[in-house]
Amino acid sequence: MPTPSPARKHTFTVVSNDEIADGIFSLVISAPELARAIKPGQFVNIAVPGNAMSLLRVPLSYESADPEAGTVTIWYAVVGDGTRRLSQMGAGSTSDLLGPGGHGWTVPEGCGRALLVAGGIGVPPVLCLARELASAGIAFDVCLGSATAGKLAGVEDFKRLGAASVSICTDDGSEGHCGFCTDPASELLAQGGYGYVATCGPEPMMAKVAAASADAGVPCEASLERMMSCGFGACATCAVETTGGMKGACMCGPVFDAKEVVW
Ligand SMILES: Cc1cc2nc3c(=O)[nH]c(=O)nc-3n(C[C@H](O)[C@H](O)[C@H](O)COP(=O)(O)OP(=O)(O)OC[C@H]3O[C@@H](n4cnc5c(N)ncnc54)[C@H](O)[C@@H]3O)c2cc1C
Ligand code: FES
Repeated sequence: MPTPSPARKHTFTVVSNDEIADGIFSLVISAPELARAIKPGQFVNIAVPGNAMSLLRVPLSYESADPEAGTVTIWYAVVGDGTRRLSQMGAGSTSDLLGPGGHGWTVPEGCGRALLVAGGIGVPPVLCLARELASAGIAFDVCLGSATAGKLAGVEDFKRLGAASVSICTDDGSEGHCGFCTDPASELLAQGGYGYVATCGPEPMMAKVAAASADAGVPCEASLERMMSCGFGACATCAVETTGGMKGACMCGPVFDAKEVVW
């Protein structure tokens, strides 16, 4: 895999920052150079104002980029102090970010049909990939998992992009199938016909998707989350155990060949 060019610092202005599902926000930022450079599966590392004691940036994938408008859209869940402060940035506020970071998805040449499996806030980088598949004319099925209906995001977006099927699973049965999205994913894989699988979400979910893909003989990539203190290869907080030794998710990932990851 080619070494990515180092992430650059970009200043950005918030265009909008709205809650789109329970505790999940869609942040649109104006950052024209970033919008032209970023690729599906890459991430940005945002400096969020409002806490002089916190030097840590917040690493986030992106959901879409509009190079003509110069905007990048990010979906994030509010889980702690950094994302809470991010949710308080209104239109017109400014800050800076490092990006684009890491490697994105690598869809194999000649893939005619892909399976996309996303759980929780793993949806944005997978939705971003779906846009690319749709514009390349590659068919795709989607399996989405969420704790509950109120936290589901992206269902209509995947449908609008022309997904061949969208299977919804919730842990509490409040929408779609009651259970994990690994169930329909395994059933679809067993039916055959896929040339590629992409997954992002909780690690046990991705481990199951990786195993089902390996059983079906289909290449699978997984986007991993790690704590990221620097985001550019200097601190080792983002280490991932792989068959080739420890690798930093910020530079060698966040998207990994699922067979390479020691789950
Ligand atoms: C490459 C990458 C892409 C990501 N993309 C998205 C995205 O598109 N949308 C989204 O909502 N989240 C995404 N995350 C996770 C996001 O970075 C964390 O939720 C965020 O950093 C939490 O910060 P906080 O200050 O709000 O919470 P904290 O107060 O720091 O922590 C709250 C909780 O979140 C956990 N946490 C903190 N940092 C991370 C982290 N980097 N990864 C996983 N868990 C963490 C902590 O262990 C704790 O349980 C991504 C993470 C990585 C590494
Ligand atoms: S976050 Fe510092 S090395 Fe990856």
